[in-house]
Formats: sequence, C-alpha cells, structure tokens
Amino acid sequence: MAKKFPSSFLWGAAISSYQTEGGNSNSDWAVFEADRGLETANRACDHYFRFEKDFLLAKKLDLNSLRISIEWARVFPSFNKVDEREIAHYLKVVDSLSELGLEPFITLHHFTNPIWFSQNGGWLKSKNIDCFLKFVSRMASDLKSKVRYWMIFNEPMVYLFKGYLEGAWPPGEKSLTKSLRVVKNMLSAYKTAYQEIKNVYDQQQSYVSITKHMLYFQGCERGHLWLNRFSAFLRGKLFNDSILDYLASKKIIDFIGLNYYRKEYSEFVPLLGRECGHQNHCQRRNSLNWYVYPEGLGFFLDRLKKYGLPIFITENGTAENEEEYYQPFLMDHLKEVKNAIDRGVDVRGYFYWSLLDNFEWDKGFNQRFGLYSVNYDTLERNPRQFSSVYGKIAKDNMLPDGDC
Ligand code: FCB
Repeated sequence: MAKKFPSSFLWGAAISSYQTEGGNSNSDWAVFEADRGLETANRACDHYFRFEKDFLLAKKLDLNSLRISIEWARVFPSFNKVDEREIAHYLKVVDSLSELGLEPFITLHHFTNPIWFSQNGGWLKSKNIDCFLKFVSRMASDLKSKVRYWMIFNEPMVYLFKGYLEGAWPPGEKSLTKSLRVVKNMLSAYKTAYQEIKNVYDQQQSYVSITKHMLYFQGCERGHLWLNRFSAFLRGKLFNDSILDYLASKKIIDFIGLNYYRKEYSEFVPLLGRECGHQNHCQRRNSLNWYVYPEGLGFFLDRLKKYGLPIFITENGTAENEEEYYQPFLMDHLKEVKNAIDRGVDVRGYFYWSLLDNFEWDKGFNQRFGLYSVNYDTLERNPRQFSSVYGKIAKDNMLPDGDC
C-alpha cells in the first residue's frame, strides 16, 4: 500500500464563528446563555480581531485548508438590514485564508441564528426560510470567486436534537411535533439554498453539502441485550443515515462532510432508546465523558462509500484533561482514515476539531479541543505537543513510519 495520502489531500482544522470570534451579541445563543445562567461566550478567543494571526498558526503547521463559519447575525443584524462592514470583514477573512494557501471551507449555519430570526419563530415557521436564503444568496454571490466548498448546515440532527427535543440548546424546546416541523423547514431551506448556490456559481465549480455528525451506536451491555442492540440499530438509522439518504436520493449533495467523535451505548426504552446510564469502565473516555472509538471512523467511512461521493472528514478531535491523550487519539483516527483510503474509500481531506481551544456551547470554556491552547485571560495561543505531530503528517502527507 502507498505510504502517502493522495497528493491533493486536504489537511485542515475547523473552527466556528460563535465559538471563537467573540462579540456575537446579536446571536440567539447569547440570549440563551443569559436566560439559562450558562457560561457566556463573550469575547471567546477574540478571533474576530485576531483571525490573521490565527490563520498563520494553521499555516505554521503546514495545513492547506481551514473550515470556518460565517455568523449570520453579524451579516444580518436585523430582519432587512445587511451590515456591509461585516460582509467586508468576511471577504477579508477569506482573502487572508487564500493568501496563505488555505483552502476555505465555509459553513453558513453552525448552530446559531440572529436574535430577530428566533424571535420570529425561527425554523418553526416556513415563512422564515426566505430570511436564511437571503443570507445564503448574498454570501454566495460575494464569495463565489474565492470559495468552492460550502456547508449549508452544520450537523442538522444535533441542532434538532439539542434544541428541539432535549431542550439543552436554543430555543430550549422539548417537542416532537415541533422537531418534525423544524426538520421539514430546514430540509426545504437546504434544497433551495443548494439550488441558489448552484445558480449563483453558474458554470463555476462549487461543492455544496452539510456536515453530518455520526455517532457509533452500540447496544448497552446491561439489561435486555437484544433490545439494546435493536435500539442502537434504530437510532443509527434515524440519527446517522436518514438525512444523507434523503439528500443523496434527491441528488442535492456534492460531497459528504463527516463529523466523527465517539461511540455511544444505547439502551432500549420505547420507542427508540436512549444513552445507556451504565458506564463501561474498560473503555477510555475523554474529558466530556465521550467514549473514544477510532474504529468507528473506519466503519463510517466504509458505510459512506455507497453514496459514491467524495468524503471530507470535516470534524474529528478530542478534549482531554491530560496532554498525553491527544496524540494517540489523532494517530489512531488517522490510521483509520488511511486504511479506508487503501480500501478504496474516496476520502479527500481531514479537518481536526479544532485549531484553537474555544467555547464548547453549554459546556463552556473548560473543554479544550485545540491544536493550540488558549489562555482566556491573556488570549495567548500556545501549540499543544501533538500539534507538531499533526503538522509533520500534513507536511509529509503521510503517517510516520511504523504507523501505517
Ligand atoms: C461538534 C460541533 C462543534 C464542536 C464539536 C466538539 O458537534 O459541530 O461545534 O462543538 O462538536
């Protein structure tokens, strides 16, 4: 087997606007944090003012791509008003990526909405879809000469589950009927947004998709084993497969953006199942208590082959309390990627989550995912040890000897 990754392989890292930029007070997450008394994102990593330096940090690691998102609430601070200064800002951001030779991957919706949009009923109202489309259309027109890869939604199932079923994220709803309305509206927004980007690009090449969070569900090893396995199967079908199957059947997806982090044990409760309360002490968990399971990445890459589309791993990473765990996590997952490529899976890139430590939603700043750690008092960035290992892999376009 060739030791090298394919020559055009993209080595990247991912961040999102709300989690890093700071000052996103027009976004619904800011209101939710205040209402729930959660830790607030505030200035986050101050990336809004430090983006050039942060991109240099990616360049220092010999990365050749970066996944970022554009904060809708900055561009449209109110219903009918575009803030041209923010558009100019994001043009500068993308130019700065290109100048450094970092291929921009742009996400248009990474969990956050403008406050006015949420106050008008958000994704529950089909009439609101047009507001999102205006944003999509404006960004695509302004960036079409600079950007090829677009992700319209980040992890729609996670957004739905957390925001409309579990109620732990904005808008804090716990309703199956509302969830169904939201899925319908988001899918319809996606379809039109996909078409809109294609129209704007006309003959120019664009690749449009979502990022799909995949969870490796396994039956809980306590209780009714067969029922638990059945619930793992059902939850996998619903959470992992349903949206991709739909988009692929309509031929409105140009690549697969795979976000993979972990395994979850599932226990049967009518109708579907839930995360198993019993903890498996033989398996390693990270600082978020997530089970680390690199084999799951290989498993999903094989499964995704059926769509016949290029695959980018748009997020994969870990948060740890001890430094020693980052490197094995990275290496074990990259081995899975390389082995999948050797088995004929068309994987075209890998984006480590995240370039920097950042604001991990309802978990706040304690969960540290960064290739660079951030000191939130001084905002100083420092490379974690494993970042140089990742940098060497990106530079050589291969895993170190003995790791293939
Ligand atoms: C993903 C999210 C990303 C980050 C990582 C840890 O599900 O897309 O914003 O929170 O998890």
